[in-house]
Amino acid sequence: MYQTIEVDVVGGVAAVALNRPGVRNAFNAEMIHELTDAFGTLAGHSDVRAIVLSGNGKAFSAGADATWMRAALEFSVDDNVDDALRMSDMFRAIDTVPQPVIGRVHGAALGGGMGLIACCDLVVAAEGTVFGFTEARLGIIPAVISEFVLPKVGPSWCRALFLTGERFDVTLARDIQLVHWIAPEGDLNDAVAAKVQDILASGPAAVRAAKALIAASAALDPSDVRSFTARRIAEIRTSVEGQEGLRAFLEKRNPSWSADVER
Ligand code: COA
Repeated sequence: MYQTIEVDVVGGVAAVALNRPGVRNAFNAEMIHELTDAFGTLAGHSDVRAIVLSGNGKAFSAGADATWMRAALEFSVDDNVDDALRMSDMFRAIDTVPQPVIGRVHGAALGGGMGLIACCDLVVAAEGTVFGFTEARLGIIPAVISEFVLPKVGPSWCRALFLTGERFDVTLARDIQLVHWIAPEGDLNDAVAAKVQDILASGPAAVRAAKALIAASAALDPSDVRSFTARRIAEIRTSVEGQEGLRAFLEKRNPSWSADVER
């Protein structure tokens, strides 16, 4: 039973909600531990086909909890390193969970909240959401999150936004590739549900394999990518799911995994 997050699994979809609305879902040591545990546990659930990450209350996440960070002032540098590594483990657990993670973002995503977004595969954000790498305004830097933000945003906008600490709107958040779709706040749940349905209409193993392919290709020497991708498609085409999907398409019927979903 978690104290700082809520996890609910229904119909193959896990909803993970940050649940410290009184501090706009700022994360402290407990939330870091619980999120790491929750995503680690969900990674082992083969029946979970999608994960939605959201924040309860007025905002998605205000990043690291300032009260928790202030307590760290008393810690040694080594203890601070351990703290930062635990935070990194949390981001990594979200980033590498085999299922697709959909970020449902509203209100504000600031500091470490931007790291959470960067670890999502798809981000649907509400109009009016405020974004920012605000760390420098607090005299610190977006260090741990940069491992996850930099590959998505690229160095140019990281330089511009990490150094100013400015707050910006959802349009710029989409331009820098942290947000993928924008919806009016009243339509946010429907917009997220549509993305979930798209994932459920796709082959469960194919979705995981596609996510894994992207991470694996990025880690390969470029000269090895061609043979790796050829091998992966050969393996998937000849898999039970690949065969079923292709047969269902040719036979003009729904594949076994999505009997009720429109093709
Ligand atoms: N850590 C700890 N507490 C935080 C927090 C954080 N990162 N962000 C907000 N809170 C607390 C506030 O101190 C306030 O507490 P109080 O009710 O005891 O006064 C409460 O959450 C609500 O914040 P408030 O600013 O009144 O809410 P809002 O809805 O008007 O604005 C934010 C929400 C997120 C835009 C605003 O709180 C904010 O800008 N927070 C700073 C976020 C930040 O810079 N994070 C980077 C950390 S590295």
